[in-house]
Order: sequence, then structure tokens, then C-alpha cells
Amino acid sequence: MLPPGPAAYAEASDVLAAGHLVALPTETVYGLGGDAGNDAAMAAIFAAKGRPSFNPLIVHVADAGAAEALVHIDERASRAMEMWWPGPLTLVLPRRADAPLSLLVSAGLDTVAVRSPAHPIARALIQASGRPIAAPSANRSGNVSPTTPMHVADEFPDGGGARLKLILAGGRCAIGVESTVLDLTGERPLLLRPGSVTREELESILGPVDVATAADGVKAPGMMTSHYAPGLPVRLEATSVAADEALLGFGPDQFLRGGAIRMNLSNNGDLTEAAANLFAMLRSLDRPGLSGIAVMPVPDRGLGAAINDRLRRAAAPRA
Ligand code: TXA
Ligand code: MG
Repeated sequence: MLPPGPAAYAEASDVLAAGHLVALPTETVYGLGGDAGNDAAMAAIFAAKGRPSFNPLIVHVADAGAAEALVHIDERASRAMEMWWPGPLTLVLPRRADAPLSLLVSAGLDTVAVRSPAHPIARALIQASGRPIAAPSANRSGNVSPTTPMHVADEFPDGGGARLKLILAGGRCAIGVESTVLDLTGERPLLLRPGSVTREELESILGPVDVATAADGVKAPGMMTSHYAPGLPVRLEATSVAADEALLGFGPDQFLRGGAIRMNLSNNGDLTEAAANLFAMLRSLDRPGLSGIAVMPVPDRGLGAAINDRLRRAAAPRA
């Protein structure tokens, strides 16, 4: 684990050039990064995560100019980039035939998901390494995404089979849920994964946006129903809590008493604060000896849609 700085970026660039992996902070969650042009590095990501290989990866770039070399950018995509880049919006776009990217990045699709992160450490590493960085969230497949460097270390106690060489320690992620994923390859924009750029915001710039359903599942396998799951069963919309359950609360209404441990996503009902706390609290409530995690209702407006999406997946029957 290294604190940010020129020496860390130089070392991280060497690790990437050698086809190994670096964990890096973004404004959403920590990513497990590799050189997106290197097949061996992409295979290392899938192996370290234990990820089904049909799940494609997000490619992180400095800006729209860098994305241009990888994907076809139409007028609609360029408006979205102008509005939200750098930031927590991933765009799925047609892959250029000559894109200097591993085929594993697209996992057999003819599209690539691109995103320009706003986090200064992610940006510095993209700059220093001079290459697009493919990075899924830095957790084992199916687990809760990491929002601190320690979470990453906990996910990969053996360095992901010695593939993960370095964690750039950038503190806590400000947003705390993964980026919004928007597919712009069809007639109408299709929201594949809700995030902090909301559907309402997208529609204000792009017009009507469809929301992906289970039928679109193959388009974004991250939509697999059980995902982002802690070890304990998760129970939603809780209005009571058992003595051997952990309680994940929301808001000032402390109407729930009891429970073995209690945490509150946001005491004053702030959805931004709740998103930032979500994964860290799920991790710390996930303790042996308890029967489950009971979660109080979270309103579905704004960022609440992304929070409830992750909570539903955490609560879904496990594969
Ligand atoms: O905030 C984030 O997006 C984080 C940080 C590290 O950037 N990354 C992240 O990556 O959440 P990952 O791999 O955990 O989730 C990527 C999502 C998955 O649901 C995947 O299926 C979808 O994006 N995706 C990637 N490429 C795609 C493509 N070509 N077409 C459709 N969906 C794609
Ligand atoms: Mg993930």
C-alpha cells in the first residue's frame, strides 16, 4: 500500500506496464486496474476477482479525446461527456475496429464501456501510465465494492494470487456507489446501472431514457440479481429487528429498537451521506454469529434509486 505521490505513480505505471494489477481509488469505489491493451492483464483481473469471464470491464480514460481512439462517439455521447466528464458516468459505445484494447475488455460484445474518473489519484495514474486502465470494482466477484484501501486489502489477502502488486491508498471514496452505466448504442439511451448521475439528470440532457430490466441482463452481467452481497442474509424494508440481527438504519426516526449492532446510513436522512456509507457499513455489520442484516427503508428519490438497487441485489437469493 502506498500513499499518492510521484514515486507511487511511477511504481504503479511500472506494475501496469508489466501486465500486473494496481488498485486505485476513484470517486465512486476502488478499482482493480490493469493495462486495457494487455490480454494477460485482463485475464489476471478476471482470475483475481473470480469473475465470470462474460462480464465486460469499464475502461478508464483521461478525457473524451482519449475515448475517441477506443469507441465511436456520436453527438449524443459527446453531449453526455461534456456534461458529466470527468465524473461518475460510464458510457457504453460501439467499439472501434482498431481500438488498441484487449478483446477480453468487451467480453465478446462489440461495445466498450468508457469512463473518465474525477478522482485526482485515478487521473494522475492514467496520465503517468499513458494507457487506458480497465478496472472493475476491487472486490471478489459478487461481494460488496470497496470504498477504502483496507477493504481492498481484505478482499485480496493473498494479493489476488500475487497479481495485485500495489494499492494506491487514497482514503475513503466520496460517492461510495459505482458509476451510472448508460448504454448509448441503441435508438434510445438505456440505463444499465443506476448511480449518482440520476435518470432524471440524464433525461434533462438526453431526452427519454429507458431502464434496463432482467431481459437486458446479458447486456450488463453486473445486473445479475445477486451482487454486492455481504455474507449474512439481508432483509429489506425492516420495521422490526431481532436480537440476533444487525440493524442498518436510515434517517432520524430511530423507531427501531434492539438488534445486536446498529449503524445509521445517515442520521439526518441525507442520501449522499448514505451512499458514501453504504458499502462500508454493510461490511462492518457482516459479522459471524448474527442471523442477518435488517435494513430500514430508504426513499427511492435521487441517489436513493442507486442505493436501493444495490440493497435489492444484496438481499437477492444467492446463486
Ligand atoms: O464506479 C465504477 O464504475 C467502478 C469504478 C472502479 O470505476 N467500476 C465498476 O466496475 O463498478 P464493475 O466491473 O464492477 O462494473 C462494471 C459494470 C458491470 O455491470 C458490467 O457488466 C458493465 O459495467 N459493463 C462493462 N462493459 C460493458 C459493456 N461493453 N456493455 C454493457 N455493460 C458493460
Ligand atoms: Mg463490481
